[in-house]
Amino acid sequence: MQQITYKPLKHILVCTNEREQGKDCCSHVKGYEIFRELKDWAKSSGLSSKVWVTRTGCLGFCNNVGATVVIYPDELWFKQVKKEEVQKIKDFILDSINKALYQSG
Ligand code: FES
Repeated sequence: MQQITYKPLKHILVCTNEREQGKDCCSHVKGYEIFRELKDWAKSSGLSSKVWVTRTGCLGFCNNVGATVVIYPDELWFKQVKKEEVQKIKDFILDSINKALYQSG
């Protein structure tokens, strides 16, 4: 085992778990689309080395409204995230990174 010392500024986890038809899961509420939008945004914004976006299995908050999204190191957990709310996540990430860069000089 080898410890990795490099860490991203932000790590966004997006549940894209699939269940059979009729059962609540993030894939039925656009989890994959949300993951894809955030991943593509990080890449197109030149942030992919600082902001990692990872799709996950079930995070334990399955529902029929929206996906579960987690942001580290902030330890922010959101459930029922709708695709039209992804901009709020992007805004939070950008604001947070700008503050971190401003504080570091
Ligand atoms: S399927 Fe996404 S939280 Fe359970």
